[in-house]
Amino acid sequence: RFCCSGSAESLRNKIHVYRILDRSCAVLRSGELPQSKFFKPLEDAMLPAGSFNNRVAFITGGGTGLGRAMTTTLSALGAQCVIASRKLDVLQQTAGEISSRTGNKVHAVQCDVKDPQAVSRCVDQMEALTGLPDVIINNAAGNFVCPSERLSPNAWKSITDIVLNGTAFVTLELGKRLIQNQKGASFLAITTIYAESGSGFVVPSASAKAGVEALYKSLASEWGRYGHRFNIIQPGPIRTKGAFSRLDPTGSFEKSMIGRIPVGRLGQPGEIANLAAYMSSDYATWMSGAVIRLDGGEYLSMAGEFNELRRVTPDQWKMMEAMIRSTKGS
Ligand SMILES: *[C@@H]1O[C@H](CO)[C@@H](O)[C@H](O)[C@H]1NC(C)=O
Repeated sequence: RFCCSGSAESLRNKIHVYRILDRSCAVLRSGELPQSKFFKPLEDAMLPAGSFNNRVAFITGGGTGLGRAMTTTLSALGAQCVIASRKLDVLQQTAGEISSRTGNKVHAVQCDVKDPQAVSRCVDQMEALTGLPDVIINNAAGNFVCPSERLSPNAWKSITDIVLNGTAFVTLELGKRLIQNQKGASFLAITTIYAESGSGFVVPSASAKAGVEALYKSLASEWGRYGHRFNIIQPGPIRTKGAFSRLDPTGSFEKSMIGRIPVGRLGQPGEIANLAAYMSSDYATWMSGAVIRLDGGEYLSMAGEFNELRRVTPDQWKMMEAMIRSTKGS
């Protein structure tokens, strides 16, 4: 009963519920594999203090989840942040909390990224508040799980509107104004590991995220001459607060997800935030057109044909070795 028909409003509610699945993402409360003790996350800001002094960062979907984590890190490193989404109350609360922690200004600007006029008004507002940004992070997204034979055109449109149109409208609007003002900037898009492979049951999201990657790779080539860099982070499953209970009530999906992550645990928002900060910083000015996967090894572990052999025990290997030897020369 995850999907797929119904009014735009009920669809929006479902998208809200399943937004946590975005970037294939989200969540565990419980188990980690034993090897996770080798891979403890460090989440505090990695770059030197002040790395973003006198910089303005614009983060879509900045009120919650990864967007909130990236805003926190950039703000802690000295950036003046502008966060945007549809929900002004959520944004304002996040802005207040982050700003009181870091001592740097965080502005909340309402913006429905799927509406180009709204994006334009949002950028007007930002220009008045902070001037044009030095750092742009396209993070806003929506997603839900649904067998594709149950997808309505409206379901398709809701996701592609936010993810692909939204990223395009924000990027084009800011890009044009930055070019006009001869101002350089770093653009970052948060996609997902399945933007590359595709994935069943999240087909609108997979398609739209793949489109976002094509958009960013294309502009990396075209707009370098204007001082613009374009890069992409593909997060694997990230531990965010609460979350999965309604998606995975039995916890079985969660367990199998952990089981295929070589590092033995989910990611933490601060780990994505540190990578995003580095890629958006002046330490990374030689980086453009890069696609960086941060997933604890999950993607390759799902791809390698023989990787399931990790379940074979030493005793079973002994038996198998004997069997292999006995077939030698046959
Ligand atoms: C955005 O994408 C949808 C397809 O999902 C399309 O129908 C729509 O016209 C696009 N453009 C605008 C301006 O919304």
